[in-house]
Amino acid sequence: MITDEHPWTGRSFLFLLGSSRPGGNTETLARAAAEHLPADIPQRWVDLNELPLPDFQDGRHETGEWPVEETEQMLREATLEATDVVLATPLYWYTVSAQTKRYLDYWSGWLGTPGLDFKKHMAGRTLWGVTVMAERQENRADTLTETLNSTAAYMGMRFGGVLLGNGSRPGQVRNDERALRRAEDFFHREAPLAEFPRVESTAGVV
Ligand SMILES: Cc1cc2nc3c(=O)[nH]c(=O)nc-3n(C[C@H](O)[C@H](O)[C@H](O)COP(=O)(O)O)c2cc1C
Repeated sequence: MITDEHPWTGRSFLFLLGSSRPGGNTETLARAAAEHLPADIPQRWVDLNELPLPDFQDGRHETGEWPVEETEQMLREATLEATDVVLATPLYWYTVSAQTKRYLDYWSGWLGTPGLDFKKHMAGRTLWGVTVMAERQENRADTLTETLNSTAAYMGMRFGGVLLGNGSRPGQVRNDERALRRAEDFFHREAPLAEFPRVESTAGVV
């Protein structure tokens, strides 16, 4: 459903690029969608692949202060400042890229940081996804979509869905006319509060 009912006032978008190469299809598609945001809405673009962000270390159940390095601090501030967080990740092995997943793992640390109220801050904000994949069957990206939807649900966030495109070599997504058309109003869609999926999948369960 397309709606411009929710107000743009006060919105700001954080784009997190999660490809392992610069100038890839996912960034191209994310930028195509971002072009259709109102001109006065702030956009911040961060390329996760360029950042010296180590793997998240789970110190949640240890006592004492957990040191926050500069890169983590920057990402934390950027995340808290944004009303809309856009994960622009290629489809890697049917889910988000390692760069994107590493960033999301830090959310677990921030959730437990005293005085940060990370969950409270993020509740009601909106999570969006943009992904490009080589395969033609769009349902191959369902796992990625479910990951982002469930993440938003856990956080009490809205979920705007995932803008999907097709391409392999950098630039190929420009040939995907359907994706470029969908990019035009992607960020103008209604983004309802996310809910966990109701139907349980038993695939692979023993
Ligand atoms: C590590 C890796 C895993 C991939 N896994 C998938 C996959 O599961 N399904 C798919 O359709 N394409 C897969 N691809 C292809 C990429 O999604 C595709 O090339 C995409 O355009 C890359 O995005 P980028 O140009 O933004 O880097 C994979 C590529 C790489 C490098």
